[in-house]
Amino acid sequence: MGMAINNLPQIREECEILQLSEKQLREIMVRLHRDIEKGLGKDTHPSSIVKCWITYIQDLPNGKERGKFLALDLGGTNFRVLIINLRENHFDMQSKIYAIPQHIMTGTGIALFDHIAECLANFMMEHNVYEERLALGFTFSFPLKQVGLTKGILERWTKGFSCSGVVGTDVVQGLKDAIARRGDLSLSVMGILNDATGTLMSCAHKEPTCRIGIIIGRTDRHMRYSERHYGYIDVLRVEKPQLQDRTYRGADMIYYVNKITCLKLTRFANFEEIQCRSGTGSNACYVEKAELCENFEGGQSRADMLINTEWGAFGDDGALDFVRTEFDREIDVNSVNPGKQIQEKMISGMYLGELVRLALAKFTRMGLLFGGRGSDLLFQRGSFYTKYTIEFDPAFSTYRERLDHATEADMAAVRHVCECVSRRAAHLVSAGIAVLINKMGEPRVTVGIDGSVYRFHPHFHTLMCEKIAKLVQPGLQFDLMLSEDGSGRGAALVAAVACRESQQQFA
Ligand code: GLC
Repeated sequence: MGMAINNLPQIREECEILQLSEKQLREIMVRLHRDIEKGLGKDTHPSSIVKCWITYIQDLPNGKERGKFLALDLGGTNFRVLIINLRENHFDMQSKIYAIPQHIMTGTGIALFDHIAECLANFMMEHNVYEERLALGFTFSFPLKQVGLTKGILERWTKGFSCSGVVGTDVVQGLKDAIARRGDLSLSVMGILNDATGTLMSCAHKEPTCRIGIIIGRTDRHMRYSERHYGYIDVLRVEKPQLQDRTYRGADMIYYVNKITCLKLTRFANFEEIQCRSGTGSNACYVEKAELCENFEGGQSRADMLINTEWGAFGDDGALDFVRTEFDREIDVNSVNPGKQIQEKMISGMYLGELVRLALAKFTRMGLLFGGRGSDLLFQRGSFYTKYTIEFDPAFSTYRERLDHATEADMAAVRHVCECVSRRAAHLVSAGIAVLINKMGEPRVTVGIDGSVYRFHPHFHTLMCEKIAKLVQPGLQFDLMLSEDGSGRGAALVAAVACRESQQQFA
């Protein structure tokens, strides 16, 4: 065991490839900036990697929006229906989460939209608005080429969806057709948007200086447990499991986490069943000058345009290869979309845990960790979820009795690997945000951020604040603001602003 302690310096050295120097970050910024310009440019757009889709949203909420709106939020394994009543100084919101069964995720587009319409109808009935004609906003968090505020063509599915007959078609039409097939609902779909756009809209509603919306690992709220429980698992305060929800095997999960904390890494029964899919995706939306949006053909009536960058694809042409590691390449090769969403795979919660595992497995094979003896689980792909990338202050004493052959140096090494992986993710997002802040050049910008990685990671916020401050041009100020449910509330706000604007037009 004495020898193991000396391995920490070597592990630290091995981990240096996971650290991004300021020089590298500045180079990343130059490349991302170039890719954003390509996405915006008319001639360069078709071959651009960072698509910078026009959202057709040109007005931010002004706080004067009023009324009852419906919202749909689809972007992961569940989807939600919400009803939001915007009032003078507050708003009421009720929502329900519906599961999307696996056979629907991989079935036909028609079945998907019929399922959505059915849940919508049930929801409206439950909330006594079944007969009302309400405006609806639709958050659809997949790469979408928008051709209007209510028209978006699906570019490709991500996040495990593969419904047939949808790619290349207008998703709003798909929803409208399903509503028409039922024939019992009268709704007006006022807008389709992405979760990053929703985040920007919902933060702008509260904070007028908000100009950027970011998703760092979208949170999928699972219907079986409440947000609090969910948060608990992600936060990883594993010392005192307080799960009460019997239907969810949260306690098992905590137990498992404890085992991981102890580095025993033994297999736990029902593990597959208790995994929760969270933290998919990385994306940014920002306010651009309409005159720079060359792909916008709707006339330059207004000064601004919200742009959905789809920056998760940054690096798909090799732009990030100079900082990617063997671990990143392995993740990509074994993913469902090799070669795609390269930046996302270095940032979003879905991958951070696996990055840690790959590094730990390598160091164990090298004999630097656990005396060279890892468990089966350690060598099993996907077995180390991001929620275990623990940067807890290891209360070693709590766990000591369970320690097997792991030493304190092993524990410190695991923690170091976790820190390197999450710090790198925080720095990459920071570089991206700094590009946008510099590009806009406004003296003070608020950045609305959603997603489980930012929300639950104990140090992400601080890491980002520090790094962005270093990377933005002198004199530019910024604030990072946690978005509360941007993808749901944002959709309602898009519908509300669209109603506000159309009424103004007719007034
Ligand atoms: C993926 C999607 C993008 C979404 C992000 C976060 O990157 O392509 O549209 O915003 O995930 O959910």
